[in-house]
Amino acid sequence: MFADRRVLVGVTGSIAAYKVCEVVSALVKAGAEVRVVLTGAAERFVSPLTFATLARGRAYTDADFWQAEHGLPLHISLGQWAEVLVIAPLTAHTLAKLVHGLADDLLGNIVLASTAPVLLAPAMNTQMWEQTTVEHNWRQICALERYHTSGPGTGLLACDTTGSGRMSEPATLTDHIGSLLWTRGKRDLRGRTVLVSAGGTREFLDPVRFMGNPSTGRMGIDLAAACVHRGAIVHLVHGPMGLSVPEGVVAHPVVTASQMHACLLEHFEAASLVLMAAAVADVRPTFQYSDKIPKQALKDALDLDAVPDIVADLAARRRPDQVLVGFAAQTGEDFVALARQKLLAKGLDAIVANRVDLSGQGFGGETNQAILLNRKGQTQTVPLVSKLELSHRILDFLEESS
Ligand code: C5P
Repeated sequence: MFADRRVLVGVTGSIAAYKVCEVVSALVKAGAEVRVVLTGAAERFVSPLTFATLARGRAYTDADFWQAEHGLPLHISLGQWAEVLVIAPLTAHTLAKLVHGLADDLLGNIVLASTAPVLLAPAMNTQMWEQTTVEHNWRQICALERYHTSGPGTGLLACDTTGSGRMSEPATLTDHIGSLLWTRGKRDLRGRTVLVSAGGTREFLDPVRFMGNPSTGRMGIDLAAACVHRGAIVHLVHGPMGLSVPEGVVAHPVVTASQMHACLLEHFEAASLVLMAAAVADVRPTFQYSDKIPKQALKDALDLDAVPDIVADLAARRRPDQVLVGFAAQTGEDFVALARQKLLAKGLDAIVANRVDLSGQGFGGETNQAILLNRKGQTQTVPLVSKLELSHRILDFLEESS
């Protein structure tokens, strides 16, 4: 997603500038080319040298404004060079300037000299963020196609208060930048509601024992984030997981397969796309005891009942305009054939087949490798990539084969 892609990071004057060092470092480690532009106020917080060192290149300030690069004024050459612009942290002042197209510094000129998508990550004190004038400016900029936004969230602020105005976390920003590099800012899921399931379910035998699986929810979380970045309204029904829900996603935590089933049914009608990444239990103990069973009383074998196949049930109820995608986590060489059988047996539009018995893919980690299959018999092989990239490739595959 990032290899050899060109990202221009604009830093404005807020203490959150120090966290953007981490974003620049992560982008460079992922293979991106990064250039940083600091406003005068940003220079007071973090030195250009810090950013230049992390970016393995140059960091520009207003002192460079009159320089030329490749025979072009600097703001033109940087504006044309960048594939994605990120302004993080974004201050109230720079926001106001962007709304009015002001170009009284290097960063403002670069924004106007470029057509690349811009990701904005505001950071400011709660009172500042909640000012009517700032709110008004924010609404105006959000209405413009070119501008994508991240945060601000609510949390502890550097002014020792807790409230809104906290800049998005570096990893959230890095993921969003990755998405924008991948899609070039297109919002092809705008106006659509996507239902995603994630994580494993737990089927309890008694209050302290359950049947579960190693799913961490990572794949479903990245799918949900990718859909939000592409403009969708996303509902995420997820089992217990230690990961946080991506920004902008409506989360519905559940524990058991039957809770997941009920919750998915509740949100199914509004969805035009269902991505069933959850590792749902196939069986559950026949009896759920309300008290802990003494160790000596545990039987050698459990009585088990089958759990209804949720995605097959959704497929049976669907309207023609609803698209259903399942996942087949398999072991062994014949995983594609098994996935194809599931695609047909469950009545899905597409299935993502992946092996969970090879290192670097499957449960848990950040990366995955998969084969995408659809009902028309088309297939696509996805090499080992980040789960966020796999998510975008799945969405592209659905789009191309629709
Ligand atoms: O049948 P299997 O569990 O291998 O199929 C996996 C796919 O079916 C996944 O998309 C999973 O979310 C879904 N599934 C389901 N309900 C179940 C079991 C699996 O929807 N009870």
